[in-house]
Amino acid sequence: MKKILIMNGPNLNLLGVREPGIYGNNSFDSYLPSLQNRFPEAEISYYQSNIEGELINKMQEVGFSYDGIVLNAGAYTHTSVALLDCIRSLKCPVIEVHISNVHSREEFRHHSMISSGCLGVIAGFGLRSYEFAVMALVEEKK
Ligand code: DQA
Repeated sequence: MKKILIMNGPNLNLLGVREPGIYGNNSFDSYLPSLQNRFPEAEISYYQSNIEGELINKMQEVGFSYDGIVLNAGAYTHTSVALLDCIRSLKCPVIEVHISNVHSREEFRHHSMISSGCLGVIAGFGLRSYEFAVMALVEEKK
């Protein structure tokens, strides 16, 4: 059974409430069970924090024993060298996801600090971005 952690960064605890025209009407907690049912062959856990250092602590905690991390780093995507360094230090692959198509939004969202450390990037498919990332990790060879 593959162990996969889904991580959401700042303001993603407000999914369903926050800018629904961009991020939709569903909370992540209401979406998670359907994702877990879709991949019975994986053990999918979830962590959210608004704090950069807590995201790093969590990644260091699981990144040497889990099979993969799906990371939506929110706005830290565009700013955080610390997250990039952390991702590069881990043993397990990290997939960067975004709910919105960051490339069709403001220019400051076009650049990601973390992409170069990630196995791949998925953006613009709403909550299905997480599903595509889990699919990639489930199919990834050990
Ligand atoms: C986001 C895109 C980021 O630019 C933004 O800061 C977020 C959410 C997304 O999922 O589309 O918080 O990562």
